[in-house]
Amino acid sequence: MEIKAPRGTKDIFGEEVFLWQRLEEAVHRNAFLFGYREVRTPIFEYTELFARGVGEETDIVQKEMYTFSDKGGRSLTLRPEGTAPVVRAYLEHGFFVREPRVKWYYIGPMFRYERPQAGRMRQFHQFGFEALGFQEPACDAEIIALAWTIYKELGLLDLSLELNSIGCPKCKPRYIGALTGYLEEEKEALCENCLLRLEKNPLRVLDCKAEKCQEVFRRPSFPVIQDFLCEECREHEERLFRLIEGLGISFVLNPRLVRGLDYYTKTVFEIKVKTLGAQDAIGGGGRYDGLSQVLGGPEVPGVGFAAGMERIVLLLEKSGVSFAQPPFFYLAPQDEKGEEILLSLSQQLKGLNIPFYLDFAAKGLRYHLKRAQKMDIRFVVIVGEEERKSKAFSLKDMASGEQTLVSLEGLVEFWRRERTAC
Ligand code: HAM
Repeated sequence: MEIKAPRGTKDIFGEEVFLWQRLEEAVHRNAFLFGYREVRTPIFEYTELFARGVGEETDIVQKEMYTFSDKGGRSLTLRPEGTAPVVRAYLEHGFFVREPRVKWYYIGPMFRYERPQAGRMRQFHQFGFEALGFQEPACDAEIIALAWTIYKELGLLDLSLELNSIGCPKCKPRYIGALTGYLEEEKEALCENCLLRLEKNPLRVLDCKAEKCQEVFRRPSFPVIQDFLCEECREHEERLFRLIEGLGISFVLNPRLVRGLDYYTKTVFEIKVKTLGAQDAIGGGGRYDGLSQVLGGPEVPGVGFAAGMERIVLLLEKSGVSFAQPPFFYLAPQDEKGEEILLSLSQQLKGLNIPFYLDFAAKGLRYHLKRAQKMDIRFVVIVGEEERKSKAFSLKDMASGEQTLVSLEGLVEFWRRERTAC
């Protein structure tokens, strides 16, 4: 039987690759402009990193991790996210001593055993930004602005930003207490899943999409975290809101936004695009001031976000933009001698940064012209016996059908003229 790619994974090729390259280029360039440096961590880590970092009771750790034992009996997990590994690397390399404030970013595959659907994969890609050592709300604003800038630059429309605070170890337990009390009273109105969550991690109840639970959350009497924030968390939230407004980014306060990872403190946010349907979050993040300590390090504040690249590429595809760049010349030899001449021409073109596609002589001219058309290459350079005799190249314009004899200098001059005309 034919072997296929595993469920929830995909091959990326053809036109789509250009969208990925454009997206990656935007991430690298904006990271550079904002002063963030790339960090590359391993694809797998010790399972304990995620169990402790992301949280034992989260869906990610409970249900979605690709965990396996290696031949030495160690439990390893394919990374489901990038924040815990980045903080692990920061601690492991002693950054809190030599350079406590760092701004880092990453791009790469993540793995979660989820039910695949449009925009939800088992191997998916994220780019993410993490600022460690910064406790200022302005850093939260910078991270949000960075995400926003990249989405906008790519031309994404209908973005909405949802913000919330989920407090700190001082005030969060008070909210959890009030929430638990309220939900205990409303048990009959909750779904089965939420009853379980209520026992293990009541905040997770707020993630529930079931309509009967949503109805409970919408009640005016439903407790909201803003009524429980301590002074420090309230000030942090207010300043962040002012800064985000000052940057001209509109947002909505969503008091039920808690996010699916346990490490958050204070700020949490999500950026959504309605047209994506059920999987509408194209990025999310927040502050995680306690994560370093959970991983055995000192107190290190942190804030960051990560974006789902498949979802962004889906949006780019829907918008119909194309970043495809066909080579400039198609090189079509008619015989072995022609192959030698065009192989040597290709070296010269490369040296002049002129993009080309070289095919070989076993196929006739008809094949080459069809192929050039398919590849969207307008100018074909042909070398056969006639061209060899006149020590020149035939240059065929696929658009007009015109064919002329030109020298090497003529080809280069032609490319220069066409390029400046574009
Ligand atoms: P997250 O919300 O779990 O956060 O993931 C961030 C983004 O990754 C989501 O908004 C979504 O676009 C994308 N994503 C998640 N799961 C999938 C999937 N199965 N298929 C396709 N895309 C997916 C984090 O991962 C945190 N580490 C973000 C963060 C960084 N917080 C602070 N710093």
